[in-house]
Parts: sequence; structure tokens; C-alpha cells
Amino acid sequence: MSKIRAAITGVQGWVPDYVLTNQELENLVDTTSEWITTRTGIQERHILKGEGQGTSVIGINAVNGLLKKTNTSPEEIDLLICATVTGDMPFPDTANIIADAVGIKNAFCFDINAACSGFLYALTTGTKFVESGSHKKVIVVGADKMSSIIDYTDRTTCIIFGDGGGAVLLEPNEEYGIMDSLHHSDGVGQQYLFQKAGGSRYPPTIDTVINREHFVYQNGKPVFKAAVTGMSDVVTRIMERNNLTADDVSWLVPHQANRRIIETVSEMANFPMEKVMVNIHKYGNTTAGTIPICLWEWEPQLKKGDNLILTAFGGGFTWGAIYVKWAYDPAN
Ligand code: UT7
Repeated sequence: MSKIRAAITGVQGWVPDYVLTNQELENLVDTTSEWITTRTGIQERHILKGEGQGTSVIGINAVNGLLKKTNTSPEEIDLLICATVTGDMPFPDTANIIADAVGIKNAFCFDINAACSGFLYALTTGTKFVESGSHKKVIVVGADKMSSIIDYTDRTTCIIFGDGGGAVLLEPNEEYGIMDSLHHSDGVGQQYLFQKAGGSRYPPTIDTVINREHFVYQNGKPVFKAAVTGMSDVVTRIMERNNLTADDVSWLVPHQANRRIIETVSEMANFPMEKVMVNIHKYGNTTAGTIPICLWEWEPQLKKGDNLILTAFGGGFTWGAIYVKWAYDPAN
């Protein structure tokens, strides 16, 4: 009997309307559009504005679009996983809030927090439920409202992040789908990229607010180096163990944190940039959202049987790579 695989059978992204340009950031912090573009490749990012608008808004829009385009009724979904570091509330999980809003009643739902690698961790987790035969229609969401934890007086972080995300549907398939995955974590990274307060170690107080400890802190250089090393390593290894060369792979789909990181990883793994999905100039770093947004934007170009290598690196540290055999041709 052949192995049951989990195939991606649909993808839908969503970003909010408001566009925060480099020029607008020039008015907020001591920076220039030229510095941002040269050092990161980012020109603009989307921001979710409005009172009471959490990450679930991104997930709800993406999942509603996904259900519609795949002709799936919400009752058919039996598992929904949401990768995010900016859940609507500490609890309940944003996955539950999304499911409730879109009418998913027959699923169990939970969040995964693996920062920028969150979507890949969640995709591997969802895959295991499909491969085991226990679940038939699984939705994996990657979404973040990074603007809710960004200090717009800190020029080292506010220029990088944006809001957005996407969702994929996973279904059983004998030929196509998630072929292999490789993940790592290393707690040494916790000192370089974190949000100090708001959890159980430093619950919110007036002092944590005054000291701006509810925002993202990043020491960019060590994160940059670890991201390049980590992603190059997992991309190379997952290709080797599946007997793939860059010629066999149609697309490298990297997490969008910095264009220079993407270019270096591509070079180290021998991928020409024409085969690398890059949209960081439009969205910045949307954390768990970048990879599903890429898949959504490139969906019209993806063909059944295309080999894709997804890779991400993020806070924790967390990182990994997934080998996907794309399961469908573009809709006419
Ligand atoms: O997605 C999760 C994982 N995250 C990442 O992968 C991000 C990894 N890190 C990076 O992408 C880069 O390190 C950054 C984009 C965050 C920073 O770029 P960099 O080339 O590493 O710059 P740097 O931190 O070494 O700073 C160089 C200079 C510094 O000034 P001095 O000390 O040389 O005088 C900074 O103060 O640039 C200065 N600087 C800025 N200047 C203008 C830092 N941010 C800015 C800014 N505008 N926005």
C-alpha cells in the first residue's frame, strides 16, 4: 500500500490595505529609504489598522478565501492550526477564534509559536495528521500582526516588519504533497530576538510598559549570520537526502526577512535568483505570514509536479526546510 501524503490543494493570502512606505518611516525615525532598501530590500509593508483588529482578522480573511476557492464547506475541516507570535489574546488560541468566525465546527484547533518558522512547523504538524489517516481536511494558517509588537521609535526593527498572512488546505494524496521536512531549534537564540514582557516571567506592569518591554528586541547581526547558516544547511541537506539538485527544483521559497539573507542562501544552495520567490519589497517581514503569502502570489505559476523547497529561520532560534511536490495546475 502506498504512503498517504499531505498535499497542498489550495492557498490563499491576505494583507491589510494600509501601506506603510519607507518614506513614511523616514518621518518616524532617523532613517532613509535608501538605507532600508539597500540593507533589507524592503520598500513598503502593510499594516492592520483599527481598534480591536487582531491577527485573527488576517486568518479569517485568508481562510474564508481558501474555503471559497477550494469549494470546501467549513464543516468538512477537521483540524485548523494557526502559526503566530501575535495571537489576538494570550488565550484562547487564535486558531479557535478563526474557526469560530468562519463556521468551522468539527475541527480541533490550536496555535503554534515558532516565530518566523511558525508556518513550516505548523505545516509539518498538519502533515502528520493527514499522513496518519486520522484527518482528511486540514487548514494551516501563518499570520502575524507584527505592528502590534513593534516599537515605532526603534529604527532597527520598525523598518523590517509588516502585517499579513495566508492559509493552505492539506488533503490526502498518494503521489504529491509534503515529501520531507527537516526542523531545528536552538535556545541559544533567545537572547538575540525576543519580546521580553507580557508572558509569565515578566507579566505586564506599568514599568514594563514604560520600559518598552512589550516590543520586539532584535540584535540583527547574530540573527543574520545564524539565518544564513541555518537555512543554507537545511536546504542543502533536504535536497541531498532526496537526491535533488537545484536543476530539479522549480522554486526556492525562503522566509522573507532580508533580501541579502535570501540572496546569500540562494547562492550557497546554487539557486539562480529567477527560481527564488522574493516579495519582501512589498510586504516586509510578516513573520509566520511570509511563506504562505509567497505561495499565494506565485500560485498562478505553479504546476502539478513542481518541486518546491520552503525554508525559514526565526526567533528561538527555530529553523527548517520542507520539500513539497506541488499537487495542482493553475486554474484557467
Ligand atoms: O525574521 C526573523 C529573523 N530575522 C532576521 O533574519 C533579521 C536579521 N538581521 C538583519 O536583517 C539585519 O541585521 C538588519 C536589517 C536588522 C540590520 O542590518 P545590518 O546591515 O546588520 O545593520 P547593523 O545592525 O550592523 O547596523 C549598521 C549601522 C549601525 O550604525 P553604526 O553603528 O555603524 O554607526 C546602525 O545603528 O546602521 C545603523 N542602523 C540604521 N541606520 C539607518 C540600524 N538601523 C538603521 C536604520 N536606518 N533603520
